[in-house]
Amino acid sequence: MSKLDLMLSDEIKAGLGTRILGREVISYAQISSTNNVALELAAGGTQEGTLVTAEYQTFGRGRRKRKWLSPARTSILASLILRPSIMLHEAQSIVLISAVAVAHAIRNVTQLPALIKWPNDVMVNDRKVSGILAEMRTEGSMVKFIVLGIGVTVNLPRSRFPKEIMDVATSLSHELGHGVSRIALLQEILRQLEQRYVKIKEHKIDNIIAEWKALSATIGRQVRITLPRRIINGHALDIDESGALLVRVSTGEIQRIMADDAVQLRVMQD
Ligand code: BTN
Repeated sequence: MSKLDLMLSDEIKAGLGTRILGREVISYAQISSTNNVALELAAGGTQEGTLVTAEYQTFGRGRRKRKWLSPARTSILASLILRPSIMLHEAQSIVLISAVAVAHAIRNVTQLPALIKWPNDVMVNDRKVSGILAEMRTEGSMVKFIVLGIGVTVNLPRSRFPKEIMDVATSLSHELGHGVSRIALLQEILRQLEQRYVKIKEHKIDNIIAEWKALSATIGRQVRITLPRRIINGHALDIDESGALLVRVSTGEIQRIMADDAVQLRVMQD
C-alpha cells in the first residue's frame, strides 16, 4: 500500500472544491466507529461539514445494530456532521441523496453500473459495495444534527472478504479487476452530495425522489421483505417522500414499509 493511498486529511482536502462538506477533515488510523466520534463531536458543537475518516474501525456499525466489517485500509469509512435547518419529517431526504451521491460517484470514478437497493444500499452487479448509517439528534420537531456514516468497500480482494459477507457483498476492485483511489472516490462522493445537500437546505426537494428512482434496483421488481414479525412478498411499486417503500401484495392491497422496519430485502427473480 503506497503512502499516497492513505486517507490523510490534507490529501482528502487537496483539490476537493466543496464549500461545506469536508471543510474540516479529521483522519484516524483506528477508532471505534467514525459515527461514534462524529456524534460526540457534533454534540460538542463541531461545525457542519466536518468529516471524520478512519483506516480501521474496531466497532464499525451498520443499520439495525449490525456490525460493519472492513479490513484495514481497504474501504472508505467516513462520517459527516450535518446541521440542516429542516424538520424531522424532511430528514429522510438526506439519506436518499446520500445513496444517490454514492452511486453517481462510483459511476463517475469507475464506470461501474452502481444501483440503489432500498432503502440505501449501493450495489454493483447485485452485490453490496456501500452502506449508509444516518443518526440524528432532534430538538422538538426540528433536526439538531445528523451524522451521516458512509462505508464503501473499495480495494478488497475476494480472498480477504470477511466470511459473514462473502455471498452478499463485493468490492469495487473485485468488480473492476484493478484498484481504485479511495481519496478520488471520497472527494467525488462529497462533491455529489454537496450539490444535492444545498438544495435540501433550501427545501428544494422536488428532484430527489426522481433521482433515487432512476438509480433504483428495487422499484418494479418482485421483492421479499423480512420485517421483525412477518415477511411480505409483493411487487415494489414506488417510494414516497418519507422514503417508505410501497409494495403491492397478492391481495392487491398496497402496503407501506418504513425503512427502519426492514430487516432484509431480497429482490426475487421476475
Ligand atoms: C449498513 O448498510 O448497514 C450501513 C453501514 C454503514 C457503515 C459506515 S462505515 C462509516 C460509518 N461508521 C460506522 O460505524 N458505520 C458507518
